[in-house]
Amino acid sequence: MAATNQPMIQLKNVSKIYDNGTVGLKDINLNIDKGEFVVVVGLSGAGKSTLLRSINRLQDISKGDILIDGKSITSAKGKDLREIRRDIGMIFQSFNLVKRSSVLRNVLTGRVAYYPTWKTTFNLFTKEDKQKAYEALQRVDLADKVYTRA
Ligand SMILES: Nc1ncnc2c1ncn2[C@@H]1O[C@H](COP(=O)(O)OP(=O)(O)OP(=O)(O)O)[C@@H](O)[C@H]1O
Ligand SMILES: [Mg+2]
Repeated sequence: MAATNQPMIQLKNVSKIYDNGTVGLKDINLNIDKGEFVVVVGLSGAGKSTLLRSINRLQDISKGDILIDGKSITSAKGKDLREIRRDIGMIFQSFNLVKRSSVLRNVLTGRVAYYPTWKTTFNLFTKEDKQKAYEALQRVDLADKVYTRA
């Protein structure tokens, strides 16, 4: 169980040096608590995207440690890494929508990490998940677009 006073996201002395020698992050120490709303502002090239990609380990860091709910994502492997990752939502600048799929199916993709691969291959989402996806779309006023291509 996670202690209640521990930060939700914790960066400890994190550095990222790209293969070509560019320093993406330099000794970053950062705590983000549950419920905190944080905005990262900086010039182009300051390292904002590097920071975000490091937090869900889309890329490895060179030094330091990153903890999510007290668990190191830096050293996690296989199933543990997948379990940490599925609790992290990420909206990409380019959205990464599947344009030939329906709006509902695009939303359901957010549940893929909770299913075995064979189920997602055959679109076997549960009634409950479809209902949840529909309600989420209702919340943002998109209920009439459920079956429209994204
Ligand atoms: N794959 C890479 N290989 C080498 N250097 C990289 C790579 N990705 C980013 N960089 C460099 O790392 C630094 C930080 O880049 P990053 O993309 O994180 O900045 P940013 O703050 O997101 O910028 P922007 O506001 O333009 O999105 C920059 O100097 C960039 O050129
Ligand atoms: Mg960026």
